[in-house]
Amino acid sequence: MKSATLLALLAPAAMGHYFFPKTIVNGVRSNDWQYVRETANNPQSGPVEDVSSNLMRCYEKSGRPAAGVQTVAAGSRFGLTSSNSMSHPGPSLWYMARVPDGQDVNSWVPSGNVWFKVDQYGSTPAADPPFESNMSEVYTTIPSNLRPGNYLIRYEHVGLHIAGAPQFYIACAQINVTGGGSASPSSLVSFPGAYSRSDPGLTFVIYGNHNTYPYPGPSVSR
Ligand SMILES: *[C@@H]1O[C@H](CO)[C@@H](O)[C@H](O)[C@H]1NC(C)=O
Ligand SMILES: *[C@@H]1O[C@H](CO)[C@@H](O)[C@H](O)[C@H]1NC(C)=O
Repeated sequence: MKSATLLALLAPAAMGHYFFPKTIVNGVRSNDWQYVRETANNPQSGPVEDVSSNLMRCYEKSGRPAAGVQTVAAGSRFGLTSSNSMSHPGPSLWYMARVPDGQDVNSWVPSGNVWFKVDQYGSTPAADPPFESNMSEVYTTIPSNLRPGNYLIRYEHVGLHIAGAPQFYIACAQINVTGGGSASPSSLVSFPGAYSRSDPGLTFVIYGNHNTYPYPGPSVSR
């Protein structure tokens, strides 16, 4: 009786949460965690809620298996699958960090100022709630002029459904960008560090709010 009640309480919450196990490159879905560093919320699906936690980097599961490095052409579309419908309204943000030459991609720790923002979207000010939601896949485009080499690409979905208590759903994939140009974005931020709990983009009340959404973090550099 007790456990049935608990299950009934927990199931809807878990169903509303999600993680991002597969990449999508040239329309092809990878295996689970083939290129994405396995996240600590597999399988329970919950978010990071502390912006000062090291989990804000890649939400990695400790002792995760090694992930591979996927070759992706600069300028191409890059996607991730979601384990559940992304029911929480909130923005999508994409960051990249260059893995220093000669470093092992899988064991490289993205600490310090290494991240640049490549994309942000999802705000739909006229709608209620004022964000896209219920996606099963999310996409960005690898900057076409990016210097080739190994990168982590970090996706972040911020659930804003509980005012003042933002939820972060995060994944990092390991990619080798080929082609490209010579761009090396220089305005770099760290995770944790880039966000503060009081950022207007994290305290934004979504209900009945049709103001322009102030995305958290630095401006897009690509
Ligand atoms: C997302 O799905 C839920 C549940 O089906 C629905 O209530 C909601 O209106 C949907 N949101 C959007 C923006 O389509
Ligand atoms: C990325 O892939 C290309 C093409 O396979 C290869 O020549 C290059 O050495 C790889 N780069 C890195 C940093 O591994």
